[in-house]
Parts: sequence; structure tokens; C-alpha cells
Amino acid sequence: MSQTTSTLSRPAASNEPVVVARDLKQVYKISHGAFHAADHLQAVSGVSFTVQAAKTLAVVGESGCGKSTLARMVSLIETPTAGQLKLGSVEVTTATTQQRHALRRTVQLVFQNPYGSLNPRKKIGAILEAPLEINTELDATQRAEAARAMLALVGLRPEHYDRYPHMFSGGQRQRIAIARALMLKPALIVADEPVSALDVSIQAQVLNLLADLQRELGLAYLFISHDLGVVRHIADDLLVMYLGHAMEQGDKTTIFTQPLHPYTQALLASTPGITGTGAVKQRIVLKGELPSPLNPPSGCVFSTRCPHVVQQCQKERPVLRELVGRQVACHLAEQLSQPAAAQH
Ligand SMILES: Nc1ncnc2c1ncn2[C@@H]1O[C@H](COP(=O)(O)OP(=O)(O)OP(=O)(O)O)[C@@H](O)[C@H]1O
Ligand SMILES: [Mg+2]
Repeated sequence: MSQTTSTLSRPAASNEPVVVARDLKQVYKISHGAFHAADHLQAVSGVSFTVQAAKTLAVVGESGCGKSTLARMVSLIETPTAGQLKLGSVEVTTATTQQRHALRRTVQLVFQNPYGSLNPRKKIGAILEAPLEINTELDATQRAEAARAMLALVGLRPEHYDRYPHMFSGGQRQRIAIARALMLKPALIVADEPVSALDVSIQAQVLNLLADLQRELGLAYLFISHDLGVVRHIADDLLVMYLGHAMEQGDKTTIFTQPLHPYTQALLASTPGITGTGAVKQRIVLKGELPSPLNPPSGCVFSTRCPHVVQQCQKERPVLRELVGRQVACHLAEQLSQPAAAQH
């Protein structure tokens, strides 16, 4: 790939994390009109994580657990209500306008629906060159050269440069969206359900492309999915969320092999093709409905649906703590970490 734009956007030191989030919160004010008090919805309730260069943190959980809200904060679309967020060496929450502008180039988003985010009236070449036009000093020839090089990098052909988005399949459109995200040589890609709208056979191709690009360019990924099956190969670390809270997080293999949180266990049990130890082999069916985020359960937010719930869970909110090589927020995690035989 030609190095036509500045590489300043990469973190200065190679061992410096690309993202460090500490106790990130996002609270939305829900207005019910002038004569009613506004409600406050905690979409993300204090989440911490680190993403290193060339690594993938997968954020998983059911609809409404706060995944996209987290994505919007990390990609600077929304300012956190509280907490710290460091991108490279810059603390986002106290950054100057100029610093924020520079940071925007280092973080790029890829969405679920590539068609919705590609201008139907623009040819692919123009779509790829637009970010260069706005953010770099490159002339038209250099921009075209960079766009063509990017097409090759994401597995598209030179003749695609002159075609319109509607002439491509879903998988190809997602390749175009990925290409556009890479034009400014970001350090981090925030991918929000990037393969959820694609056929399963195409999903694997796009996931392989993302993995290849990561190896080649040293990209960090914040990869969001409701499906543990999708993140199984691409993730290095996992963050399992439920109603805005982190339930379990840490190394993917550790968690897949022995999930300690009943919610992680339930998610894994409902993912076809994944087998682990002990509890995972049993099919765990979550009881009840997902509670309203406007009125979350007291104590553990998962207590209303947990198959192991005890009185303490309804009273005390468990804090995230280190146990057997990962972090878990469950009062009963020690018991649940016992070898499978002991649980029967
Ligand atoms: N701008 C907003 N104003 C008010 N509430 C919001 C806003 N954005 C999100 N929410 C609420 O915050 C919670 C988290 O939403 P979010 O979109 O982050 O979840 P998600 O995990 O991405 O879900 P999905 O899997 O459906 O995409 C939900 O209860 C949602 O209704
Ligand atoms: Mg979402």
C-alpha cells in the first residue's frame, strides 16, 4: 500500500494502547414533554477496557445492552457523560477542538448496512477519494492512485473504480465501506455489526478480509456483534455486556473455554457450534423478558433472568473482579468456576 498520507495518526509508541477506556458512562435524557419530569436512561454504566494495536476487542450482548452507544463514544460521535477515554496519547474528554479533529482521522467506523452509508450517486472512486480531498493535501492524481491501491487491498478489481454502489453485492459493498474507512490510515476501526446483514457464506469472507487487513496494517478493532459465533475467530478479547454493564471480560479463549458469568454461559450455550466445559454443554434458556433500561433491576442487573439467582443478587450489585484469568461481575462466580462434575 502506498504511504501517501501522514502516518502521524498512529500511536507514537508501538506498545501504547490504541484505546484506554475507564469507567465510561453514557446517560440519555428522555423527555416526555414540558409538564413531565425527564427520565434518565443509563445506556452504558461504567465500562473499562483497553485495545492494543493489531488486536480485536469484541463487544457482545443482546439488543439494547449499549454496544452502539459504546461505539459512538469511542468514535467521538458522542461525548461520554462520565469516565475517561484515551485514544493513543490523547485524553478525549479534555482534548482541544484541534486535537479532536486530528483524532477523528485515527478512528473510523464501519456499519452494519454498507448500502445506507454509501452515496448512491457517487462512483466508488469518488467515495474513496472524498476523505482524502477533505483531510489531505494530495492532488487528484495521487488521490486516484491511493483509491486504486485501496481497491486492490480490499479484494476489489480496478474496473470497480468507475462503478456505482448499486452495482455491487452486499459483501462487496462492505468491502467498499472498509476501504473508505481505511483511506486516512486510521489506528482503530470501530465495526458495529459489520457482517450481521450478510449471508453466512459472505460473512466469513468479510471476516477474513478484516483479519488480513489487521495483520497487514496493524489495525486495532473494536468489533461489535450480538453473535458470539461471529467473533469467535476474530476476537482477541471479549467484553460481554448486559443492560449497559460489563458482565465478564478478558481473553477470548479463557472465556470461551470456561465462561464464569451465567449470562456469558447462556450466550455461549445459544451459539451453535461452540462447545466449552461444564455448564456450557447444558442448554441454558434465559427466563423472562429483558428488563427496561429505564427501570433496571436493583442489585445485579441480570438477576431477573439468572438461573442461579440468590437473595444477595437482588440486593447487591456485584462489582467486576479478577477471577480465574478474567474479570467477572457475579456474586456466585467462585461456585460457577468449580469443575463441571462438582456442579452436578
Ligand atoms: N440517542 C438516544 N436517546 C435515548 N436513548 C437511547 C439513545 N441511543 C440509544 N438509546 C438507548 O440506550 C440503550 C442502548 O442502546 P444501543 O443502541 O447502544 O444498544 P445496542 O447494544 O447497540 O443494541 P442493538 O443490538 O439493537 O444495536 C437502549 O435502551 C436504547 O434504547
Ligand atoms: Mg447497536
